[in-house]
Amino acid sequence: MAGRIRIAIVDDVQESRDNVERLLRFEPDIEIVGTASRGAEAIELAMAKEPHVILMDVNMPDMDGIAATTAIMSRMPNVGVIMMSVLNEPDTLRRSMLAGAREYLVKPFSLDELLTSVHDVYALVSRMPQAHVVQAVPAAMPVSTAKQTGKATIVSVTSSKGGVGRSTVACNLAVALREMSGKRVALVDADLAFGDVGVMMNTSDAKTIIDAVSYRAQIDSDVLETILVQHASGVHLLLAPVSPQDAEVVTPDLVRSILDVMMGMFDFIVIDTRPGFDDLNLVVYDITDTMLLLVTMDMTAIKDARQFLEIAELLGYSGERIRVILNRNNTYSGIPAEEIGESLKRPLWATIPDEPGPVLRSINEGVPLVSTAADSKITQEFCRMAESYLMELDPELVQQAARSGPRRSSLRGMFRTGWKPAS
Ligand SMILES: Nc1ncnc2c1ncn2[C@@H]1O[C@H](COP(=O)(O)OP(=O)(O)O)[C@@H](O)[C@H]1O
Ligand SMILES: [Mg+2]
Repeated sequence: MAGRIRIAIVDDVQESRDNVERLLRFEPDIEIVGTASRGAEAIELAMAKEPHVILMDVNMPDMDGIAATTAIMSRMPNVGVIMMSVLNEPDTLRRSMLAGAREYLVKPFSLDELLTSVHDVYALVSRMPQAHVVQAVPAAMPVSTAKQTGKATIVSVTSSKGGVGRSTVACNLAVALREMSGKRVALVDADLAFGDVGVMMNTSDAKTIIDAVSYRAQIDSDVLETILVQHASGVHLLLAPVSPQDAEVVTPDLVRSILDVMMGMFDFIVIDTRPGFDDLNLVVYDITDTMLLLVTMDMTAIKDARQFLEIAELLGYSGERIRVILNRNNTYSGIPAEEIGESLKRPLWATIPDEPGPVLRSINEGVPLVSTAADSKITQEFCRMAESYLMELDPELVQQAARSGPRRSSLRGMFRTGWKPAS
């Protein structure tokens, strides 16, 4: 029947999906076009069936309803999302609305409440001008042209599970990019609740992203200059809040505004993230030029990385924009490195050896390996990675740096004598 309201239902609990479906089944002006039990499935369903309204559960494993809403809204701005949650928390409500949801239903809800929301939201979205479905998010900018337009090249270090070396890679890569290019490099700790960049870079500075909260929309480069911490390597750090509770007040919108300003201040921004896909990570990934996905040699990490790549593909983060790095490469895991690439159907962009002693010492001393252990295999791999990335962007970047002198040796001297972060 033409003119019916097309609805999709998303909930990880089958009973909840069935309940909503049962409530709506006999409504003459409503057609249920599909159901999904995961955030990624919801995106796929929305793109395939183009519903008018999506009833979206908030709490789901892998990718929650808020992240799925963010992803759907960026591709299909005319869909009306109604969140459903047992939690009646102001923060969840606020985050849902920021993600683009139009209404919020607290479970359990009555048929009346449900129908009123559906009709209100449908009336709202049907008044909106037609927008086309955006099939995929284009790369923030082709990597090779980003530099010429004066916008920073953004590299995010990602994973689907914790403890695989994101922070280790982000810190060392940022320093390597700085050393090899001499360009303006920033390192942002977007693992807001459990950020480790401050410890790994041994900063005693108290400035963190929390200091940006009170500025909200007025963030500019002058404000950021006072919040960024300058590391002895020349890399500027934007640190995560010291206490996990404070992470709550740093919204994805604020992070986006900060990154927008930083893009004009730096040539490279390396971002350390928290695992998986959530609303903050989607904000970060959407402006990222190159996502580095870390995987280690255990079956769970490989399985999770495969799922990550599937969701990434669905969201349009594909091709050269996402590259796999094998971390902690060793001979004792029983899984050959080549098989990991094959299993992920991706070439390994880099392979970092497993060297527990040097890595642990470098973390505990707060000095990135790249700055001290020039001869270690890990350092060589970071430098190779940075160099090949810079060469890909513009070979001049590496050549200019080589002409401007032996940056690496002077840095090593500085670290050996200990350093204090510049204020
Ligand atoms: N290449 C490596 N060799 C040995 N140990 C490593 C290596 N990379 C990371 N680690 C160890 O793994 C742990 C987690 O690393 P970290 O960078 O904090 O991961 P994440 O940020 O993904 O949680 C650290 O204790 C570190 O010592
Ligand atoms: Mg970390």
